[in-house]
Amino acid sequence: MRYAAITGWGMAVPDRVLTNADLEALVDTSDEWIVSRTGIRERRIAGPGDSNTSLAVAASRDALAKAGRVPADIDLIITATFTPDLFLASQACMIQAELGGSAAAFDINAACAGFVYALASATSFIRSGMYRTILVVGVDTQTRFIDYTDRATCVLFGDGAGAVLLEATGEPRGELASVLGADGSGVQALYVPGWTWDDGPAGDDPTAAVLGPRPRLDTHPAMLMQGNEVFRFAVKVMCDAARQVVLKAGLSLDDVDMLIPHQANRRIIDAAARTLALPRDRVWINIDRYGNTSAASIPMALTEAVAAGKVAEGDNLVFVAFGGGLSWAASLVRWGTAGVERCRADGGAAAAPPADG
Ligand code: COA
Repeated sequence: MRYAAITGWGMAVPDRVLTNADLEALVDTSDEWIVSRTGIRERRIAGPGDSNTSLAVAASRDALAKAGRVPADIDLIITATFTPDLFLASQACMIQAELGGSAAAFDINAACAGFVYALASATSFIRSGMYRTILVVGVDTQTRFIDYTDRATCVLFGDGAGAVLLEATGEPRGELASVLGADGSGVQALYVPGWTWDDGPAGDDPTAAVLGPRPRLDTHPAMLMQGNEVFRFAVKVMCDAARQVVLKAGLSLDDVDMLIPHQANRRIIDAAARTLALPRDRVWINIDRYGNTSAASIPMALTEAVAAGKVAEGDNLVFVAFGGGLSWAASLVRWGTAGVERCRADGGAAAAPPADG
């Protein structure tokens, strides 16, 4: 059998810190309300020198260095983001341009569930035998879409990037099972507006006579959210998806060494952990320092958990995320790099793809 081990991991955040005290100066809120209702104390916000690309590239370099690999080793780059620097080209192509190399490259948008969707996609590419080495990046600079006069949303979100490198192995490492889900009837619960027909084209637009009215981009699109609705949805899907993915891998919740959940609200994480009967020391939480960083939140949390020495070879990790769409995703990951060296040395023969793949 062929598997896709995580051999590198990394993260990057902007230097600029936005504290609860800063937000008190912007909207009618308080540090006490934000901490007690969300668990967030501060978040990072992109400054003039930052972009989706710069954060993604810094996280990717971190992941490559930990894996001892160089950009020329990468076969494919998949980027999960809903805040690419350009509509066209893809964020993944912009990352490849900065890193170097000639990997294939494309983006996935599943909002805050994007990283786990991308991990499942990358794992499938490796397990099928199509590719051997894939860079998966979760990055969002969503503070671009935050209205800092709206206290319902502006306290929650921050910017950041996380990345993992996946490599083929013949040992059962990396993602062993995944669950992906979506319910498009929930689009209105959490979205950023895009195109509008309001006001039409300028009266003196010479193309209007031929083309008629055309849509234009909302000039200051801001995130809109039904907080209570998302909260209820989040607790339910986190518990359901975590249970399903563990079962799919042939394991039980007792076998889970660490739950690495999407960091959206401390109360959502606590409620899910309580329902799943997972003790605090088996749940990774860093929302206090970064807020909700969307597609970056799980790879950032993973990077910090590994740095803290909380993840060991052979451990079973559960990643679980939810977000706009509405969408959700979970992954059962067996940590470690067993078998990777052998695969590197023999050009992949040690992890031959399945006979029917
Ligand atoms: N500061 C102070 N008061 C605030 C506030 C803020 N930043 N935001 C809302 N309030 C007020 C409300 O206006 C309301 O006041 P009222 O009772 O006078 O009407 C009160 O606090 C309670 O509002 P409510 O929306 O019920 O609070 P909540 O406990 O549900 O917390 C969220 C609100 C947004 C923090 C919470 O619903 C949440 O985290 N939802 C999930 C959002 C999410 O995860 N989104 C991303 C998904 S990837």
